[in-house]
Amino acid sequence: MSVLDGKTVAEKIQVELGTEIEKLKGEGGIVPGLTVIMAGDDPASRAYVNSKSKLAEKMGIRSKLVKLPETTTAEEVIQTVEAANSDPLVHAILVQMPLPRHIDHWKILDRILPEKDVDCFHPTNQGLILQNRSRIFPCTPCGVMKILDHYGLDPAGLNAVVAGRSFLVGKPMAAMLSNRNATVTLCHSRTVNLEGILREADLIVAAVGKPAFITAEMVKPGAILIDVGINRIDKEEDFANFCPPSRYEVFKKKGYLLIGDIHFQAFAKAGHYTPVPGGVGPLTVTMLMSNTVELCKRSISVTRDA
Ligand SMILES: NC(=O)c1ccc[n+]([C@@H]2O[C@H](COP(=O)([O-])OP(=O)(O)OC[C@H]3O[C@@H](n4cnc5c(N)ncnc54)[C@H](OP(=O)(O)O)[C@@H]3O)[C@@H](O)[C@H]2O)c1
Repeated sequence: MSVLDGKTVAEKIQVELGTEIEKLKGEGGIVPGLTVIMAGDDPASRAYVNSKSKLAEKMGIRSKLVKLPETTTAEEVIQTVEAANSDPLVHAILVQMPLPRHIDHWKILDRILPEKDVDCFHPTNQGLILQNRSRIFPCTPCGVMKILDHYGLDPAGLNAVVAGRSFLVGKPMAAMLSNRNATVTLCHSRTVNLEGILREADLIVAAVGKPAFITAEMVKPGAILIDVGINRIDKEEDFANFCPPSRYEVFKKKGYLLIGDIHFQAFAKAGHYTPVPGGVGPLTVTMLMSNTVELCKRSISVTRDA
């Protein structure tokens, strides 16, 4: 059993990215620009957005956070998107999910210019992924592929099971694994015999959003386990069910713990696994920076070619 250390992979990519950002600045004083739009005050979203802004600042990316109130209207969010669409200093736009319930997210995502759509939410970009013609990919599944590649784990020929079919994670993940020649099963809440399907998997990507949902009994010995889920354990009485005793002191100190969708006992059976925290999470935010730089470079080449 070996740990797939997302922090190490993320740091390596950040170093390479730093060189590219310096090059852009040196060549024409170009600074990659990212705008993050957040509506409402969901605590998890706030934490994600803060970590994105912090890393952008560290990397020398110009980042702007537009915060809108929970009561904002779809029209106001669209106006914010349009302002970023037409700002030449903004190369990348991210609308933080989830949006307040009264807003239809498709209405908003459809308005992001595909060439500034940093998390590939726009239907054009999702379509390009399906057709295996995309050069940028949604941050989280892209981070998963970076981890597999870094550790030399080729998905080709593997029986891969993706649990969770959101347009953010599960669906693009399934398409990207298929593009890399894995045989993919995409599971969801209506899947019949999920446990049996998981037991046959050489590679499991868990993106369900339920703490310790995949247990040791559902995992084939030697499987690669990629845990995308992030769940917060606040109650002491839940601790013993979900976390190894070794983390109890951290839990007591912090008052909570973050855990994934895969039960820790399953890791002992795995060939390789990503921990939570320190697995996919650091890659998600790093790929956001990487995609911002890529979109910036593309905008320059489009301007040059025009
Ligand atoms: N590490 C990171 O950087 C990162 C990034 C993004 C998300 N996340 C985390 O990843 C998790 C998933 O995120 P998401 O945005 O994809 O969540 P989501 O939109 O809530 O989707 C959850 C998916 O899980 C499926 N599901 C729910 N219950 C199930 C069950 N009993 N059996 C099988 N499938 C079931 C749902 O099926 P239906 O479609 O049938 O409802 C849905 O497709 C969350 O914990 C989130 O916080 C982490």
